[in-house]
Amino acid sequence: MGKKTVRDIDVRGRRVLVRADLNVPLENGVITDDTRIRESLPTIRYLLEQGAQVITCSHLGRPKGPDPALSLAPVAGRMANLLGQEVLFAEDCVGPVAEAAVASMGHHPLLLENLRFHPGEEANDPGFARQLASLAEVFVNDAFGAAHRAHASTEGVTHYLPAVAGLLMEKEVRYLGALVANPPHPFAAVVGGAKVSSKLPAIRHLLPRIDLLLVGGGMANTFLKARGLEVGASLVEDDLLDAARDVMDQAAARGVSVHLPVDVVVAERFAADASHRTVPVDQVPRGYLIVDVGPETVRAFEAALRPARAVVWNGPMGVFEMEPFAAGSFGLARAIAGLDATTVVGGGETAAVVAATGLQDRFTHVSTGGGASLEMLEGRTLPGVAALLDA
Ligand code: 3PG
Repeated sequence: MGKKTVRDIDVRGRRVLVRADLNVPLENGVITDDTRIRESLPTIRYLLEQGAQVITCSHLGRPKGPDPALSLAPVAGRMANLLGQEVLFAEDCVGPVAEAAVASMGHHPLLLENLRFHPGEEANDPGFARQLASLAEVFVNDAFGAAHRAHASTEGVTHYLPAVAGLLMEKEVRYLGALVANPPHPFAAVVGGAKVSSKLPAIRHLLPRIDLLLVGGGMANTFLKARGLEVGASLVEDDLLDAARDVMDQAAARGVSVHLPVDVVVAERFAADASHRTVPVDQVPRGYLIVDVGPETVRAFEAALRPARAVVWNGPMGVFEMEPFAAGSFGLARAIAGLDATTVVGGGETAAVVAATGLQDRFTHVSTGGGASLEMLEGRTLPGVAALLDA
């Protein structure tokens, strides 16, 4: 990755501040998916084994000031269960509470309270960054999921402490970076999700690198309409019809084959209990909404992907959160999992689809970062990575 990692520095007996992305989904204070906690453990374990004092920090949600519903306390509990040892918790991430916790932590891992309870975090305020940095002697950034944010805990602290990558950060940047920079061919990009607008920069960056482009999800509607098809009452970004045409023209000029849905699930309303049926893509009834790709599309996408040596997938094929409209996304997950190829999945919703199928181990890499993985596919430099010491 061109950056120093935890393996390149001596941390024995030193206080190490680890920025992790412990931004896990919570329902009434209960963690509903602990993947990000689990994925943060190798770095924490490694540092503990090396004899470091490990002070972990993270954001959780998007609070506007202190908010008990977004406390990291439940995360400390889960971390303790997974690590099989006590994890101390400090009820503030800076100031006297945090300083006292660090002074008395000994060799127990310590988790600090939600960084975003302080406005200085997102403002990347130098005073706040300095206070955070003052707790430790070394900084390890393992928060790939937050590496696209130039916040105090991802960028600011690197001005005050030697800063290196954690093991998860290293793994994420290696898989996503190598795939975009030097993919095996044929290389396929599968894109989905609600909006074309959010995926256009990634599609544009990937076009010169890929051999196949498969488009599903809500964003396919704009491509279908750009091809002259009727999409009923489906979500369409009319201002991007020209951009969709341009993508298809450029793909044709480069010899990239573009695959759009051939059949779709249409629903009367945007609701799980709405009446729905599967129709060929050129027979979407007036007033109906496209909510998933159909089984023919999954078969066609699977056949198109079979020769691929590498696949990157970002964005679900339909409204998978609603059970009747999840078959397209789950079917595609099974199809990609079965390929003999390097398969990399963007984080966020796509990772949630894969997790729901239980097939995560059959992918080469499932990213823990939603926005961060998308920015890597756009070819952008992530500020949290750029700020680390060069190797
Ligand atoms: C994520 O969930 O994508 C990361 O934790 C970043 O969160 P944010 O979008 O609130 O900065």
